[in-house]
Amino acid sequence: MTSLLPDERQADDLPDDANSPLLPAPAGQLTRRAFLAESGTTGIAGILASAPMAASVASAAQANADAAPPSSSMALALRVNGKPHAQQVDPRTTLLDLLREQMALPGTKKGCDHGQCGACTVLANGRRINSCLALALSHDGAEITTIEGLARGSELHPMQAAFIKHDGFQCGYCTSGQICSAVGMLREAEQGAPSHVTADVRRTGPMAPLSDAEIRERMSGNICRCGAYPGIVAAVREVSLAMPRAASSRRSRA
Ligand code: FES
Ligand code: FES
Repeated sequence: MTSLLPDERQADDLPDDANSPLLPAPAGQLTRRAFLAESGTTGIAGILASAPMAASVASAAQANADAAPPSSSMALALRVNGKPHAQQVDPRTTLLDLLREQMALPGTKKGCDHGQCGACTVLANGRRINSCLALALSHDGAEITTIEGLARGSELHPMQAAFIKHDGFQCGYCTSGQICSAVGMLREAEQGAPSHVTADVRRTGPMAPLSDAEIRERMSGNICRCGAYPGIVAAVREVSLAMPRAASSRRSRA
């Protein structure tokens, strides 16, 4: 067999030559041969452990361990479902956790905890928000309405009654968020806010009653894993059609 080396010698037999890519590099340089040998005996972890990067990772971990967790709590005052509340909260607390863990209002659900499903929707000063994305302290002084605050005693909110009438739920996990979102959404439409499917966004004035396409688009931030969408749209449509009566009814109860 013809050798690729003119003098018939193997690479390992060649004399030291700094210019040859087949020979060991000068001291201090890591060759491919040495790297592979090191990988085979110690593995990647061993190599990383000897790299400067490992030292910086270790020092960063130590710095994190040394950092004292924030222990201070801050005062927060807000109204929830019409009642004033004064709380001491960790500044990192979300509004969702405040409601569920500190105020014993578990009707608001935690689904994704990432602003993707809408299960945690509540009304803050009448506007729908994802409470999992809201720091409680950022709503100091706000008026918060949760699903527990929509009914008036034994009288359900029209949206709650419509969800029951039209089977707008199955397991119910998304339902409190769906209902709060629908209430906030109809208020937005009443105030003339257009949506992505609004044909004429220059139009001013109330948008209700809404088409099914408008309802689906405006409720698209609320996911229902059970797929109860036909009932949800039917319920929202019914309340949307009754908006003038529902609005005057709500005003008379206030
Ligand atoms: S739990 Fe807040 S959006 Fe999913
Ligand atoms: S009713 Fe089950 S997730 Fe909507």
